[in-house]
Amino acid sequence: MTRLQSLLKKNKRRVIGSMSGTSCDGLDLAVVDIKGRGKNSRINVIYTFHVPYTQKQKEYLLDIITSKSMALKDLSQVNFYLAQIWANSIKKMLRRTRISAETIDMIGSHGHTFYHFPQDEKIIDHSVRSTLQLGDPAVLAQLTGITTVGDFRVSDMAVGGQGAPLVPYFDWILFSKYKKNIIALNIGGIANISFIPASGDRGKIIAFDTGPGNMLIDQLMQRLYELPFDRNGRIAKRGHFIPKLFSFLQSRDTYPAQKPPKSTGREHYGSEFVIDIIKKALRWRTPEPDVLNTITRYTAVTVFNAVKDYITDSVDEVVVSGGGSRNPVIMGMLQELFGKVPVKKSIEYGIDVDYKEAICFAVLANELLNGLPTNVKSVTGAHKEILLGKICPV
Ligand SMILES: Nc1ncnc2c1ncn2[C@@H]1O[C@H](COP(=O)(O)OP(=O)(O)O)[C@@H](O)[C@H]1O
Ligand SMILES: [Mg+2]
Repeated sequence: MTRLQSLLKKNKRRVIGSMSGTSCDGLDLAVVDIKGRGKNSRINVIYTFHVPYTQKQKEYLLDIITSKSMALKDLSQVNFYLAQIWANSIKKMLRRTRISAETIDMIGSHGHTFYHFPQDEKIIDHSVRSTLQLGDPAVLAQLTGITTVGDFRVSDMAVGGQGAPLVPYFDWILFSKYKKNIIALNIGGIANISFIPASGDRGKIIAFDTGPGNMLIDQLMQRLYELPFDRNGRIAKRGHFIPKLFSFLQSRDTYPAQKPPKSTGREHYGSEFVIDIIKKALRWRTPEPDVLNTITRYTAVTVFNAVKDYITDSVDEVVVSGGGSRNPVIMGMLQELFGKVPVKKSIEYGIDVDYKEAICFAVLANELLNGLPTNVKSVTGAHKEILLGKICPV
């Protein structure tokens, strides 16, 4: 029996989940023991590890991601480069934890999104939509010696889906047992929500990107303060809310009015958007902390409005994860907007706010080997539920 055949037969697997988010802050790793399948999965997080990108690495990635025209050579190289540095990060984590590589059954690697283009474009004689996650899983498999599952999004897109979000399947496994109407909110570079109904009915899950997470805040911090992000919301806290700037954002941003299913990214909330904000702020002589305060509120309001506009059921609780949940100003604004509905952190449900997505991709990889579809049709807009991911065996 090959290793892959015996891996397929297992009822319990030890999986490393790996995520490199749109914030380009670094690689998140989680070692997860998973027993069983589907809603009966028992998920036990053994270890989590974050490897920040150096300033040079971050600039290298962002240069490629934000460039308008890119040499194919660079695209080819970065695909291998990421797999190489991630393999080193994984080995470093295993040395640190004294977990031997032989006890790891596989890696579930999201990869890093370089382009996400979920709308139709006519190319010669076909309508084409596409998404590109790099950091090649086959290279990662060979360099770590661990079977790797990667490229989860492409198959969903091939059957008419947006290829995103994929976390709702994991949210469904996590939250449906509590029999409450739960909004799981992840505030990464982009913010996204999953509505998990108390009934646990998979067909009634609603999930989509609500708009900016930390992406606008981070870019403004870099341009105005040369800092990577607004640690603990310190700058936003000092600033005031500027209604005029807020109205400008609302008129500039076409995304919130789009009906779900929908997804977004740096293509929309990238440098052009941020430069427009800065131009207005300069013209109106808006103090920098006020810009940060207003943008932070805009971020919270787009989340709240998304729930108000597109989730018709009442909500019992909001459970927040992602780096943005560490920003007390965002959290405070969210609680104020949601009023009586409690806004909690995912750690209250045993999920570390920083590693939810890494854990999720461990679970999605495991479900592929279990033969279970993990795209949620109602969410991505796909025609059918299918198995997600490419298996790269060793
Ligand atoms: N202490 C903190 N205060 C404010 N913001 C924070 C804090 N810690 C993390 N963040 C924000 O979280 C971001 C990283 O979030 P993350 O969930 O890793 O996003 P992604 O999935 O896009 O990589 C940082 O860029 C920063 O904006
Ligand atoms: Mg991150």
